[in-house]
Amino acid sequence: MRAVRYAHLIWPVSDNISTLIRAAMFATGLMVFDPATVTLGTLAAMTGYASRFWQPIMNLSNIMNNFINNIAYLERIFETLDEPVTVTDKEGAAELGEITGQVSFNDVSFGYEKGNDVIEHISFDVKAGESVALFGPTGAGKSTIVSLISRFYNIDRDSITVDGVDISDVTLRSLRTQMGIMLQDSFIFCGTILDNIRYSKLDATDEEVVRAAKTVCADQFISLMRKGYNTEVNERGSKLSGGEKQLISFARTLLSDPKILVLDEATSSIDAKTEALLQQGIAELLKGRTSFIIAHRLSTIRNCDRIMYIDDKGIRESGSHDELMAKKGAYYELYTSQSA
Ligand SMILES: Nc1ncnc2c1ncn2[C@@H]1O[C@H](COP(=O)(O)OP(=O)(O)O)[C@@H](O)[C@H]1O
Ligand SMILES: [Mg+2]
Repeated sequence: MRAVRYAHLIWPVSDNISTLIRAAMFATGLMVFDPATVTLGTLAAMTGYASRFWQPIMNLSNIMNNFINNIAYLERIFETLDEPVTVTDKEGAAELGEITGQVSFNDVSFGYEKGNDVIEHISFDVKAGESVALFGPTGAGKSTIVSLISRFYNIDRDSITVDGVDISDVTLRSLRTQMGIMLQDSFIFCGTILDNIRYSKLDATDEEVVRAAKTVCADQFISLMRKGYNTEVNERGSKLSGGEKQLISFARTLLSDPKILVLDEATSSIDAKTEALLQQGIAELLKGRTSFIIAHRLSTIRNCDRIMYIDDKGIRESGSHDELMAKKGAYYELYTSQSA
């Protein structure tokens, strides 16, 4: 606001000054007007020079304006950098050894603001290698539950354990390097497709990258591109469709070989063309990993080992597709209405 105010002040002021100066020159010129020495031409030329002289000053004030503007941007950047980190390793935190991927929630309650819990008393055990789908209305707390597993927030009550170890007792690094998290929009960096996939494991060889891409069925569209894996893409993922970006992101996650996988609506922006490919890709990705899948598409979640229906701050229904269908509850309602 200061920068804008300044800009709106400086332009009219300097503009007016230059106009006033020219007016003054004309006035003085007319007063001393003597056709023998000061001709009309001289007068016109002089005022022309004066306005030329003024131009660099206007430019300088413009630079000043930009400067103030950029200071404002910088302030924002530093504000973000200076934001204190609330989730840190606690004193003497141990390294989490290689995990199998067993996850337990023991009566977990959590709220972003004090006294306003988003989830309450959630308990469940997930065996290593099991796939769990979470579904339910928007705002029910599905994303919150999965973000607690990677410890994006501290819980002050109760505990979440991975392989029997409380996740608040281990270092964040040792926990998070064994997890793969994929969100709705996958970020594509400026660089080649090869680099983009390799991002999750920087020392991976080209062969490993290609193998990961083949496993999740990303190889098919990549090899159709003129430069294949060396095609340059950029941050907006130009030339790539939403589904193709997702496939690259699948390959990236597979390469890092996480034991616990979280897909938070990772398949919702998929076009019909890539949908079939993607289903294969996901199936490959899930093999041998504990996975938490949040999806709206019932075709994605019906194959999961367990489905949890989240609503009213807790788990309302839980079981396999067949069990929940037999129960004729909320899942049944949704399933029959969607397939209709
Ligand atoms: N960072 C946050 N700060 C405060 N409230 C949040 C934050 N993230 C989510 N919420 C609130 O928590 C509730 C659950 O959100 P979320 O877990 O994202 O739901 P879902 O993923 O099931 O749609 C919502 O009411 C939402 O407004
Ligand atoms: Mg969500």
